[in-house]
Amino acid sequence: MSYIVKDTILYVENLSVAYDGKVIIKDINITEKDVHRETVTTGQVIAVLGRSGRGKSTLFKALTGLVKPATGQVLIRDIKNSTEMDIKAKQVEEGDVGFVDQKYTLFRHKTIYQALKFALRKSSLSEKEKEDKINKYIQEWGLEKVRNQYPNELSGGQRQRTAIIEQIFSSGSYMILDEPFSGLDVGNVEDVKRSIHKIGADHTLNTVIFSTHDIELAVSLADSIYVIGYPTINGKMEHYGTVVGHFDLKAMQLAWKDFDAGHLQLVEQIKKLMLSS
Ligand SMILES: Nc1ncnc2c1ncn2[C@@H]1O[C@H](COP(=O)(O)OP(=O)(O)OP(=O)(O)O)[C@@H](O)[C@H]1O
Ligand SMILES: [Mg+2]
Repeated sequence: MSYIVKDTILYVENLSVAYDGKVIIKDINITEKDVHRETVTTGQVIAVLGRSGRGKSTLFKALTGLVKPATGQVLIRDIKNSTEMDIKAKQVEEGDVGFVDQKYTLFRHKTIYQALKFALRKSSLSEKEKEDKINKYIQEWGLEKVRNQYPNELSGGQRQRTAIIEQIFSSGSYMILDEPFSGLDVGNVEDVKRSIHKIGADHTLNTVIFSTHDIELAVSLADSIYVIGYPTINGKMEHYGTVVGHFDLKAMQLAWKDFDAGHLQLVEQIKKLMLSS
């Protein structure tokens, strides 16, 4: 399982976000790098864990440029203007990062098929290629029977899967999924896991960041995990979220393999950390 680490792909420095003057998250620092393995293409799969209200969704809004930070910055790779020898970074802006939020809103007046067609409108694919791509995803994500239905005629899981595919179609290398597993049945959970793997395996720069309340699932799927919690400073618990733990599963020899005793141990460690933050 040897790998080499290349240039930075996501750099978050001293980030804080406040709503109406109240600090929600603070002192957030994250560095993620492009990882290369010999024979397989490997993107980055990053999980964010933390108890309810600690600021995961708020962090995601800052990472996608939907919310302006009170301090600090979020830099991503400027993929369009970078070459192998000359890598440029840019401040994240709205639209750079695909985002499926917790509520996964869809167009009310578009069927699944129409919504996916719309998501591909800026793509350079031919009409035939677009058609094939839409059909392939509808098939693979189990939406065949409902492809011509409107959002109010879909189940929560069907809406959610459509929202994820929309973002895969319309965004570049970066994708954030806020609780993509909530409200899914066991089969759908496997589908979404597989697709997160698939996005990662498509390109070494592809970066998927997701949040979940399922620690085991995070440990089995991610190669980097951040725990957001309330820090305890000088014996007193503060009431803003920050990174209270970071686990690099690659360095821990836990990435890219089946769930084993090592994973289970990490689950217990993270559970303890979450309960104390
Ligand atoms: N627009 C807003 N205005 C004011 N406060 C907000 C706003 N959005 C979120 N908050 C507050 O920020 C804190 C963090 O909320 P956030 O949604 O980021 O938590 P979370 O970790 O995603 O929780 P959950 O696991 O329940 O989704 C909460 O106390 C919430 O009330
Ligand atoms: Mg949330």
